[in-house]
Amino acid sequence: MNLQDLIALKEKALNEAQTAADAAALEAVRIAYLGRKGKLPEIMQELRNVSPEERPMFGKTANELKNELTDIIKAKQSSFSDGRAAAAGFDLTQPGQWQGLGTRHPITQITDRITQIFQTLGFTVADGPDVETVWNNFDALNTPADHPSRDEQDTFYLKNGDLMRCHTSPVQVRYMMAHKPPVRIISPGRCYRRDTPDATHSANFHQVEGLFVDEHVSLADLKGTLSYFARELMGPNVKVRFRPHFFPFTEPSVEVDFTCHVCQGKGCRVCKNSGWIEILGAGMVDPNVFSAVGYDSSTLSGFAFGMGIERITMILYGIHDIRNLYENDVRFLSQF
Ligand code: PHE
Repeated sequence: MNLQDLIALKEKALNEAQTAADAAALEAVRIAYLGRKGKLPEIMQELRNVSPEERPMFGKTANELKNELTDIIKAKQSSFSDGRAAAAGFDLTQPGQWQGLGTRHPITQITDRITQIFQTLGFTVADGPDVETVWNNFDALNTPADHPSRDEQDTFYLKNGDLMRCHTSPVQVRYMMAHKPPVRIISPGRCYRRDTPDATHSANFHQVEGLFVDEHVSLADLKGTLSYFARELMGPNVKVRFRPHFFPFTEPSVEVDFTCHVCQGKGCRVCKNSGWIEILGAGMVDPNVFSAVGYDSSTLSGFAFGMGIERITMILYGIHDIRNLYENDVRFLSQF
């Protein structure tokens, strides 16, 4: 075979591929030229018999034959499979059906955001069960026997005497019982209270608990940590106010307000003209809690805090009815 023959063969091959009427004919062309026993391996064998002057051109043409033929066959193959799809009733030019992407539930989004903020401060996430003992939920947390929150009107009790935790604070107890100090945890989770559902109450809601215990932890650390949290969550201009309060498990206790996100503290309908929105409860861990879990309150101190996730979610997203968060109406949820 000389160069002339090869050029003619190339024309023939490309032409055959181009005019192949169906997938089977195309496959026959492929085998005849590119197959293991096809023309192309034969041509490559020829190469050493070709005269030295013609050899470079011969090699180049053989390569072109291989590449161009491969391209044509590929293109035709996919057009044949489109044809099959059309015959089967598919129109591959249709844009397809958009199934829509799901979104994370707003409660999950805000929980993750709160968690991330505290993780940057070195807090790790701890977990506890929804069904708790009375001891973990109340006794170890220094809650007096006659405290109203223990009432069956307020807390769900189970037949065996356990209860559905009414706050995430029992995770503090569990964690300290199981770990030596220092402690730096947050714990998001579900809580349960006997509340009649309305726009701001739900019998099942979520809190994030926080606990920091070490030597020399002071109220200043609490204020610094929660002020940092406020700025990360609400933006750099938010102001934070600490009001004296009472919780059985902290002493002193505070309630923490952020400046109103709607009026920036000027006073509006949302903050009832006060300029402030109540966000969380906090305080210095009561020494009685330390003794209950076996921590030495003469050398250790710490702060704890707890916040309602629904409340923060409603504030950040402008949601006016807590029940929207539980109805799982996709038209509502897909907005977030
Ligand atoms: N457990 C309290 C509540 O449910 C919140 C809180 C947690 C307050 C930790 C102080 C310290 O209201």
